[in-house]
Amino acid sequence: MDAILDAPLPEQGTHALGMEKIPTDFYTSADHYERELKHVFARCWLLAGRASDLAKPGDFFTFQVDALSTSVVVVKGKDGAIRAFYNACTHRGTKIVTEQSGRLRGGMICPYHGWAFGLHGDLLNVPDEETFGCLDKSTEGLRAVAADVWGGFVFINLDPRPQWSLREYLAPLSEGLAQYVGDDQWSWSFGWKSEVKSNWKSPVDAQVEGYHITYGHRRTIARNVTAETTRPYIFENSIGVPGGHHLFRPEKLGVQTPIGLLSAKFGATSLYAEPEREFEANHLNVLKFSNHPRWILDGYLLFPNTVLFVQQGQIFIQRTLPVSPHECIWEVDFYHSEKMKSFGDRFNREQGRIQIRDVLSEDLKIVEGIQENLRSGAISSMHLSKQEVIIRSYYHMVKRFVGGQ
Ligand code: FES
Ligand SMILES: [Fe+2]
Repeated sequence: MDAILDAPLPEQGTHALGMEKIPTDFYTSADHYERELKHVFARCWLLAGRASDLAKPGDFFTFQVDALSTSVVVVKGKDGAIRAFYNACTHRGTKIVTEQSGRLRGGMICPYHGWAFGLHGDLLNVPDEETFGCLDKSTEGLRAVAADVWGGFVFINLDPRPQWSLREYLAPLSEGLAQYVGDDQWSWSFGWKSEVKSNWKSPVDAQVEGYHITYGHRRTIARNVTAETTRPYIFENSIGVPGGHHLFRPEKLGVQTPIGLLSAKFGATSLYAEPEREFEANHLNVLKFSNHPRWILDGYLLFPNTVLFVQQGQIFIQRTLPVSPHECIWEVDFYHSEKMKSFGDRFNREQGRIQIRDVLSEDLKIVEGIQENLRSGAISSMHLSKQEVIIRSYYHMVKRFVGGQ
């Protein structure tokens, strides 16, 4: 059973990704950043929200890509289908929907002059229509944005003709995983949204390698997980998934705090669970190593900006969105499958929340310091170890999109 832990990591130079150092202008160049907006964010599938937030016809949420000056409204139609539109009135461009989420009664009415659009984006009514002279309502519907659902998450694509379907894009991920993550069992528990002074790729980098755990998280989770028990793998030929990793707990647990041990009796926390505890989550057999006694989680990097962590009883999503070459928004959302029924459950959930907050705060501080140093020109390139192979794969995928190779 420990074959996965004993298996060697992908050796440097044994894959097509090579061994070269990564130039730091990958994280600082304004020109590279502009090309990323144009060739990555305007072409790739982007995770916009959770489908279960659109339970009834008329339910909507908006998704904002500020760096592209783009607002999208995602709405459930009367036919149950989820559609996305530019949140822009076709009369003179007013934002039609101003709330982040809610339920539309029948349709969307522009707050400027009252043009009314149906849930399917069609233009239904124009006040004083005859004053326009020649207006064909059938051609003035809201401009559609491609939308599809995988794993219970709504993805949108700003490319008017997406080059790949969402399923083609996420191809290495199994249908079983999509079912597990997409199950109705999950409900949103907590999350954060932070403004981070780093390039948008750096928070992602920090979530796809375990090399930093021993030092970077020595005050928190280094007791529970280590670099050696983080097993990365790459999907060299994937369009939209650079790689993934499994996280296992070490054979000998270090010092788990008394409060951590107590909390673990009531369920999985962010990065710890009692090995003996039985979980009731469905579809667990689809997670590759979930029956391994020391398995903690599977993580996947969904290009370009999302990291998905899947555990027993818990999934969490991290997304970054660019603001400038040196700033991004970092959003974290946790979903749990088990309802809180007792004080112990609540204690467990709260302990897990505080623990992961502390861990992610450590990452944030580090990536902000990195950005400052890269901007100063203190270093001009970075070496990557084989434990950081997903970052190499990620780098190559970005370069492929922006046309750098
Ligand atoms: S801009 Fe929307 S109705 Fe005029
Ligand atoms: Fe970290």
